[in-house]
Amino acid sequence: MTGRVVIVTGADRGIGYETARYMAAEGGYDVVLACRDQEKGQNAIHQIKKDNPSALVTLMQLDLSSLTSVRDFVTNFTMKKRKLHVLVNNAAVKLSSTDLTAKPTRDQIEVTMATNYIGPFLLTHLLLDLLVTAAHMTGDARIVNVTCAEHDHEKLPGVTELDVDNFQLTKKGTFSGLQAYKNSKLCNILFSYQLADSLSGTGVSVNCINPGNIPSTQLESRSSKVKRGLKLVCLHYLLRCAKFTQTKKQAGKQVALLASSDKYKGSTGCYYEDGVAERSSIESYDRELRQKVWNISKKIAGLGRDDGFDDISLHSTV
Ligand SMILES: NC(=O)c1ccc[n+]([C@@H]2O[C@H](COP(=O)([O-])OP(=O)(O)OC[C@H]3O[C@@H](n4cnc5c(N)ncnc54)[C@H](OP(=O)(O)O)[C@@H]3O)[C@@H](O)[C@H]2O)c1
Repeated sequence: MTGRVVIVTGADRGIGYETARYMAAEGGYDVVLACRDQEKGQNAIHQIKKDNPSALVTLMQLDLSSLTSVRDFVTNFTMKKRKLHVLVNNAAVKLSSTDLTAKPTRDQIEVTMATNYIGPFLLTHLLLDLLVTAAHMTGDARIVNVTCAEHDHEKLPGVTELDVDNFQLTKKGTFSGLQAYKNSKLCNILFSYQLADSLSGTGVSVNCINPGNIPSTQLESRSSKVKRGLKLVCLHYLLRCAKFTQTKKQAGKQVALLASSDKYKGSTGCYYEDGVAERSSIESYDRELRQKVWNISKKIAGLGRDDGFDDISLHSTV
């Protein structure tokens, strides 16, 4: 056991489960599975322990679409006086591209943006003190944000750039499930780059990763059955021979390695694909957009000085 603690969100299935399993079994990490559904989370714990009885895995409830749940999660985690060395923001939701009606959460945030970006934004900020402390002690704490190639509108017909003045796609005729997903995944990258700069010198690294194309997960479960079937057969079974798709295990391992391997120690502010730093979309390097998104996110997430949150205080040194 390494004595290092990692939180993986959305760890009851898919890539998150495989990331958690790998970090517990192969990496010797003490893994907190942060899951929305307690029963599914328990099943995941059971499965990991069945294969590796000595694995250190615990379950904590977290619904990223709820700001209250995010705050409760952090309060519960902090009350346990646990250390935190790594945070993997993996959980996400994707509506169907034919879904043309925005669904607001209780906090009145569009559900895709709430789950994939605003929840993780708040979670990360509320856990920053713990990560900075861990970096002080060990010289290495990490944040890994799982994003997607679909953050790039140039690769998606009918999808446009992020309009900060229409951040939640409330303007008439602008909402689609795919546009919301694209925007949220772009925000994961903008956030990673901005936070990496803010945390420069603290020992906390921030990177994002596109785990590839993994048709065997349930991410596309809201797409039509025909589309899902086609994608599964064509992409998974045929294109896998040509290495265009990956299994959940392969993707989870990639995420786990970025979160734990010495190979990536010291790397920060990068976008990873297939284990190497690559260029993300042109839009993701727009610094003005980055700052605007940061400011609007703070407002939506309700972050303020009461949370000990102060942009300037992030520039501490190891
Ligand atoms: N699959 C791909 O081809 C692909 C490609 C590129 C990037 N990615 C990224 O990889 C990550 C994992 O996706 P996946 O393919 O493994 O999808 P998945 O099988 O659908 O798993 C998504 C996970 O997120 C959790 N989740 C959803 N809403 C949540 C909420 N409100 N609060 C907490 N957890 C929530 C789910 O929990 P429940 O079981 O409770 O729903 C589940 O554990 C995502 O960030 C996705 O964007 C996937």
